[in-house]
Amino acid sequence: MPELLPQRQDPDSLMLTGFWYRALPAGRVRRNRLCKATLLEIPLIIGRDRLGQPFALRDSCPHRGMPLNCGRFDGENLECGYHGWQFDVHDGQCQLIPSLTAEQNLKVDRIYAGSYACEEQDSFIWVFIPDPGPPGAGFAPRAEAPDAAPQLEKFSETYKLAYLQAEMPVSIDHGIIGLMDPAHGPFVHQAWWWRSRHSIHEKKKHFEPIPNGFRMSAHTPSSNSAPYKLLRLYADADSITTTIDFVLPNLRTETIRAGKYWFSSLTTVTPISRNHCRIDVVAAWNLFSWVPFVPSLMKFVFAKFVEQDRRTMELQAEGLKHNPHLMLIDDADRPAKWYFQLKAAHLEAKRTGTQMKHPMQGPVTLKWRS
Ligand code: FES
Ligand SMILES: [Fe+2]
Repeated sequence: MPELLPQRQDPDSLMLTGFWYRALPAGRVRRNRLCKATLLEIPLIIGRDRLGQPFALRDSCPHRGMPLNCGRFDGENLECGYHGWQFDVHDGQCQLIPSLTAEQNLKVDRIYAGSYACEEQDSFIWVFIPDPGPPGAGFAPRAEAPDAAPQLEKFSETYKLAYLQAEMPVSIDHGIIGLMDPAHGPFVHQAWWWRSRHSIHEKKKHFEPIPNGFRMSAHTPSSNSAPYKLLRLYADADSITTTIDFVLPNLRTETIRAGKYWFSSLTTVTPISRNHCRIDVVAAWNLFSWVPFVPSLMKFVFAKFVEQDRRTMELQAEGLKHNPHLMLIDDADRPAKWYFQLKAAHLEAKRTGTQMKHPMQGPVTLKWRS
């Protein structure tokens, strides 16, 4: 066997623009109210108009930079608290400049507050963060999103939906490679009802390239965990399959299907700033829906996992303060390598205006112990 050398990799922490990001849980954003949020170091205000339609604006007045969140909102227009300029909350267009006299014919409607495409999807408000525009911000309508915000896949009419979130003091890159890292399970996610560190064993999984990402091909989940044994019994299905996708910039989709039962989740790691990200897990399922306490039990299990990950990354952040190099090894860290390669390929394609060259040539089988 050839000797395997660990590979040096420095996270660039670069936050990718031109994508949709989850901004806030939809339930937190009420009619006629403004909420603050930050995405990719951009200060935003998210709100709902009087009909309940969500909107997203840059939290900065195009006149002299006053945060718009301290302004007055009437459910339609937002008035800056400094000189009273008014903006339409949906497209940011200026409606009124109170200081203008009757004979001053400044073209008010050519002025715009920064405004972002915004959609509500599966309990979250999503905001499209476009590539930085040409200089001259304040005089341009917003960039429209080329596609709709990502959606959680559902496989039946009725289902339950829940979400969890956790903030982590690490860059987007550390957040994402932590999410796709298969080798931390036995050490970070120990619990008597899940697994112990002694249950570590060799695994072999098949991966394939998909547009902008990669897929862990449909497989039968590892049999050494109690919940899967239970599921097999409950669903009375011979086959349980799990598919896990990762797609740029930050989407991890997991689908479990067992006969007519299914579980589906869409996890995102959202860059808040260079050194801060947030993980949001939204899950839908029709499993165990008739057993009263199971949804809360499932939420408890997930909350525990997410908390274990959050705690680990909080500790890791201590070590990262001094900018150490990263070391990625095969095969356990190969998904992390693909992530960095995908990101680089995406940026290169954008720079050259050509089609993205996918870093994977075809299906790959990875082996590791976990
Ligand atoms: S800073 Fe907003 S109106 Fe002047
Ligand atoms: Fe984890």
